[in-house]
Amino acid sequence: MDIISEFKKIVGEANVLTEASDKAGYLEEWTQRFHGKALAVVRPASTGEVSAVLKLCNDNSISVVPQSGNTDLVGGSVPDDSGRSIVLSLTRMNKVENIDPINDTMLVEAGVILQRAQEAARDAGRLFPLSFAAQGTACLGGCLATNAGGTAVLRYGNTRELVLGLEVVLADGTVINMLRGLRKDNTGYDLKHLFLASEGTLGVITRAVVKLFPVPQAVYVAFIGVENPHKAADLLARLKSETGSAVTGFELMMSKCVERVAREIPAVHVNVDVSAAPWWCLVELSYPREPEANPFEAFLEKAFEDGLVEDAVIANSVKENRAIWSIRESIPSADAHVGNNLHNDVSIQISEIADFVDETLARLYAKYEWLDPSVYGHLGDGNLHFNIGSIPYQLAFENEEGIREIVYERVAAHNGSISAEHGIGRLKRAHFLRLKNSDELAVMVAIKKALDPKGIMNPGILLPDEAWQNQVSAG
Ligand code: LAC
Ligand code: ZN
Repeated sequence: MDIISEFKKIVGEANVLTEASDKAGYLEEWTQRFHGKALAVVRPASTGEVSAVLKLCNDNSISVVPQSGNTDLVGGSVPDDSGRSIVLSLTRMNKVENIDPINDTMLVEAGVILQRAQEAARDAGRLFPLSFAAQGTACLGGCLATNAGGTAVLRYGNTRELVLGLEVVLADGTVINMLRGLRKDNTGYDLKHLFLASEGTLGVITRAVVKLFPVPQAVYVAFIGVENPHKAADLLARLKSETGSAVTGFELMMSKCVERVAREIPAVHVNVDVSAAPWWCLVELSYPREPEANPFEAFLEKAFEDGLVEDAVIANSVKENRAIWSIRESIPSADAHVGNNLHNDVSIQISEIADFVDETLARLYAKYEWLDPSVYGHLGDGNLHFNIGSIPYQLAFENEEGIREIVYERVAAHNGSISAEHGIGRLKRAHFLRLKNSDELAVMVAIKKALDPKGIMNPGILLPDEAWQNQVSAG
């Protein structure tokens, strides 16, 4: 059987890409660390087509790498270099199918770009809160399959918490329709959660019912300089006590991250002088109605008096809010420009994260005096991108294992996680397999074997290969 012709029968000739130049963009992720090969890129337009493609692959033991926006940071959305997989691109499934303002839900296909989903909700007078720097490219399917985090988790939760219903296609082509928009449903195991953060290893997410929220009518942003992460954590605790659920964003970054954005990303206008403090917090407060005065004014006056804050800039308009956010959102691109790509994505309880930063940086500097760390992230969620660069940047990569050992040892000492929001993919798989509790790992493998007995779904990602025999052939 000519398998390529069979794919073409299902999705149409134009949607099976086999030429190297057509496939290239699907075979490399944006950090350029992982590259792969594929038999073909197959682009279905409906759940039915996804099902038929998976059945064909399962029957012929062809591996499937699901992909949507391909903004993954851990190499989970590109194939290995065996050339025996297909990339299943979901980007043609790009419809926002329904918005229900009474139930506050939205039904979306997997290939809808996150920013489009946000705009569709906004047009209907609602907020879809999931947001992060890559939202103009990332698609809902990938966000769901990786349980993406981002900058609004503090108030609205991870992607997982934003999902009410899911449609998935299993490896053998079975379609499981769980597209219920229910807020309560205690009828057995909540299967949708198996697929959220499964990184494409259990099936393909094709559609979802997600939650919508009221749009806040007043949003305030301030950029606040502090002496160290301890003061930042104190500031967060005080803000929560004084403003309650108004805190919708609390990001921490080293001043050098901001300086790098100013140097490397000319399109971003950095009009804050960050020399007054080594660490900066981006704080966002949101209110259902306009308060009488900007809430930062009184808050910051007291915080200055109490020695909690070194310097601060309060944004005065929606445009200024955006300008401050774009500084924060541009940090990963600025780091990528200078090759500072040794990513860590750690999660530590907020109460311990400042100690973690002190201890880990001290241990790293003691061994590698040439470090150029780029530490930033979502302090409000206890999640830092503890990225380690160097000058020249190659030094960090030459010492990658030693650096990761130090970081992960401190993560373990604080009972944290080596992946807060980016997932495991290929990048962190060896560490994940070594560090994850073996009982949890055994349950994961049992689930994988039950749902994907031939191991065709995203092999080499997350779980151990030896868990099953993957007899891949081109059919
Ligand atoms: C961010 C991405 C890297 O927080 O997770 O910018
Ligand atoms: Zn992040």
